[in-house]
Amino acid sequence: MLRRPRRNRKSAAIRSLVEETRLSLSDFIFPLFLIDGINQKVPVHSMPGIYRYSLDLMLEEIDSCLKLGINAFDIFPAYPEEKKDRFATESYREDTFYLNALRTIKQNFPEACIMTDVAMDPYNSDGHDGLVENGRILNDETLEILGKMTLAQARAGADIIGPSDMMDGRVGYLRKILDENGYKEVSIMSYTAKYASAFYNPFRDALDSAPKSGDKKTYQMDPANSREALIEAQLDLEEGADFLMVKPALAYLDIIQLLHQRFPLPIAAYNVSGEYAMIKASAANGWLDGERAMLESLLSIKRAGAKIILTYFAKEVAQMGL
Ligand code: PBG
Repeated sequence: MLRRPRRNRKSAAIRSLVEETRLSLSDFIFPLFLIDGINQKVPVHSMPGIYRYSLDLMLEEIDSCLKLGINAFDIFPAYPEEKKDRFATESYREDTFYLNALRTIKQNFPEACIMTDVAMDPYNSDGHDGLVENGRILNDETLEILGKMTLAQARAGADIIGPSDMMDGRVGYLRKILDENGYKEVSIMSYTAKYASAFYNPFRDALDSAPKSGDKKTYQMDPANSREALIEAQLDLEEGADFLMVKPALAYLDIIQLLHQRFPLPIAAYNVSGEYAMIKASAANGWLDGERAMLESLLSIKRAGAKIILTYFAKEVAQMGL
């Protein structure tokens, strides 16, 4: 045998020489859940180790993450039912707790990168990402609401806005609104290929944001398809997105790779709540080594072509001392 691939695996020193992919804390965006109130740290039952924080405790959490080397955060608000309406009005009320919290977070940690979520679901009494009329999700009417939400988040200091709604034309629409109002520097991380997935359930528990009726299949993508991800990515590129995101990550590594190969923008992947819950649940049962499974799955996401990984594991990885 002239060719013995095992020679390149024979020692830790050689393995590290030939190692192609390495995780870095600078790859991570840590999603955090915000609730109103003070001194609140409420566990999310389907996501062991993840909490909903009131602002005071979230500031402490962000501080400890920054000290560990996590510099980017995606902040999601959980609203009580009585604040929700059909039009997600609360999402752009200047004095709402989410926007106030963003302002305080930016004041306290100007160097941190703060990403926000643009979609109606946390504020929508119908639980959908768009405006519902007679059971249908209206696209263009939703854009107007997303525009107000985006502007309010930009005013509150968001560095990156993350449209996660999957309405057609929203990236261009939001880019235009941001630019016209003097927020040319606010970035857009588009949820480019967001699939209608079973892996979002723990997140919907965290935010109490599950749809009241129907599903999200008329706007989120069909898991059977990869070619329409190319259309979505092409549109987002043309409409001014700064980053393209694929979501979920693990069941969609082929999509991450496809967009990485075809598009020059940085690719992000969202390692979603259900992916986190699967590993935590099996580790809790002693069925697999949670730490190794976590690192292996994050590595696979990066190897597929994602430079940026949104993951609930971010702090745990940082605590291990990457
Ligand atoms: C909603 C939104 C969802 C997630 C991020 N933004 C859920 C959904 O589309 O139903 C999921 C994140 C996760 O599961 O970790 N616009």
